Amino acid sequence: MLRRLHPEQPDSFAFTPANREWAEAQTTKFPDGRQASAVIPLLWRAQEQEGWLTRPAIEHVAELLGMEYIRVLEVATFYFMFQLQPVGSVAHIQVCGTLSCMICGAEDLIGVCREKIAKNAHELSADGKFSWEEVECLGACANAPMAQIGKDYYEDLTAERLGEIIDALAKGEVPTPGPQNGRYASEPLKGLTSLTEYDSGKTQYNASAQLASDIGDTVKRIDGTEVPLLTPWLKNDAAHKESPPPKRRKEPEDTPGPKPSEDKDIDKTGTQVQEAEAASSAKPRGKSNPAGEKADISDAGGEDGAAQGGTDGSAGAPSGPEEREPERLDAPRDGGSDDLKRINGIGPKIEGMLNDLGFWHFDQIAAWGPEEIAWVDARLSFKGRIERDDWVGQAGALV
Ligand code: FES
Repeated sequence: MLRRLHPEQPDSFAFTPANREWAEAQTTKFPDGRQASAVIPLLWRAQEQEGWLTRPAIEHVAELLGMEYIRVLEVATFYFMFQLQPVGSVAHIQVCGTLSCMICGAEDLIGVCREKIAKNAHELSADGKFSWEEVECLGACANAPMAQIGKDYYEDLTAERLGEIIDALAKGEVPTPGPQNGRYASEPLKGLTSLTEYDSGKTQYNASAQLASDIGDTVKRIDGTEVPLLTPWLKNDAAHKESPPPKRRKEPEDTPGPKPSEDKDIDKTGTQVQEAEAASSAKPRGKSNPAGEKADISDAGGEDGAAQGGTDGSAGAPSGPEEREPERLDAPRDGGSDDLKRINGIGPKIEGMLNDLGFWHFDQIAAWGPEEIAWVDARLSFKGRIERDDWVGQAGALV
């Protein structure tokens, strides 16, 4: 089956503030420079937010992770879990059609979908509420036939029961996931034959169905406020908090140089998130980000007030003797900017961040020494990439 982007696409995509905070926290799970490893969870969250993956969503994830669009598109088109076309506004039903389920009646389930939803897979129902598709084994063969609806499994289905479930969903109800024939889990149909006394601590439903019921997001869109944003890998178990307020642009009369800032008391998670947010918010190519927005980036981590070309210093940014501000420009020189993406490791997002910082040409980058690299590194959200990819050497070869 060809998996291509849908011909009709929305104009834009943006994570909700809470989803964006969650997405940026995901990138901190991985070593510096390896943030691309977060591509699947971020694509998944984009799909959870909107129901399907749009081209703007794929591009948005690429920019967040500093990846080429094509790399993210490759992932999105490879995995069938990503929906590349609009799905039903209430639910997308994925019927397993592999061996166990087929033997046990998957074709009847598909017949119900054709009758109640639409004749063809991936077609929206007339009211736009439902869509369906046949998928490969979902690993619940002992409870065949089954279907995944939204995020949860409905198992031991019959055509009649699936019809009832669809009708209930259409009315705004969400039937309890799990076995639909009275089985607790995947024990023999005639009941337990061993460990028959094992009943203590038993929840009303089996573990996955219970969790699905407790979370209650089976067919919900996720805006990120549903669950706490936990980042235990950073030893920060603080619950989700509101996104920090936008960075204040520095006023000219502000005293340059290190000083206490509102960021100083935030933990590592917050710092990283804010750095990434500040850097991301300074989108050079965005319609809402006219030239001269370098102050936003500086606010994210600048240590001085000597920014060239009228940009400012930054309050509360970390400073260190090992950093030195490189030569920066307000705008590209007459011949136009160099294509910094020719440097391996610089994608569209990082190129935009570099432009915002005042770097437009290969010779500027080629002139960086260790102290200048430290200065720039402190202002990018993917630290260590400059040296690892040898931007300076690459730029020198392109001058
Ligand atoms: Fe359907 Fe495995 S064959 S879940």
